[in-house]
Amino acid sequence: MAKVSVSILACDQTRIGEQVQEAERAGADVVHIDVMDGVYVENVTFGPQLVTDLKKITRLPLSVHMELLRPETFLPMFARAGADIITFQLDACPNPIHMLREIHKAGLKAGVGIGPAYDVESLKYLLHHMDGLILMSVEPGYGGQTFEESVYEKLRRAREIMDETGYHVPVSVDGGVNVQTGRRLVEAGADVLIAGSSVFQSDSITAAVKGLKKL
Ligand code: DX5
Ligand code: ZN
Repeated sequence: MAKVSVSILACDQTRIGEQVQEAERAGADVVHIDVMDGVYVENVTFGPQLVTDLKKITRLPLSVHMELLRPETFLPMFARAGADIITFQLDACPNPIHMLREIHKAGLKAGVGIGPAYDVESLKYLLHHMDGLILMSVEPGYGGQTFEESVYEKLRRAREIMDETGYHVPVSVDGGVNVQTGRRLVEAGADVLIAGSSVFQSDSITAAVKGLKKL
């Protein structure tokens, strides 16, 4: 059974709290919060205040996905705001080991995100510093994009590298995840399905979360 992380980018932004609560009641495991800076990606999204406010209305872990440049400058404010997991994009950070250490020093779980155009080989040098991996199956920046099939192969390769190095961390896949892609992702070794549109843009948040949880 997969874990399900719900990406609030696809929420009705005027009703984020109630939609997260519905997802939680339906069995969602994590809340995924994409933070975008308008520089690394053209979109701009959420600030630390939302993390603080969500913390008051849900018990689910809050996973901040930094889709921005210079993640180390944003770390302190999101740590103070109450994030539980911080993931940064590998290609947005010149010193990823340092960044992973800083996240740990702040008392949080540390993840690395890898975009669809980048390979996973450098994981062999990073895994022993990491608590989680996000493989992105769309370019960072927007919800509702076309799923990149190459993620299946990367998922298998990431698993191989984990076996080779002996360091295993949960693998999440982010972008274009629905029941169809999700089923194959779980077969290929995904531990967590991150889903935005297929949950929050559906007729029923509850049914969508339950459908993904069953995979
Ligand atoms: C993309 C974000 C994703 C996004 C996924 O930049 O990292 O988390 O919300 O959205 P869907 O599930 O709609 O592809
Ligand atoms: Zn994301």
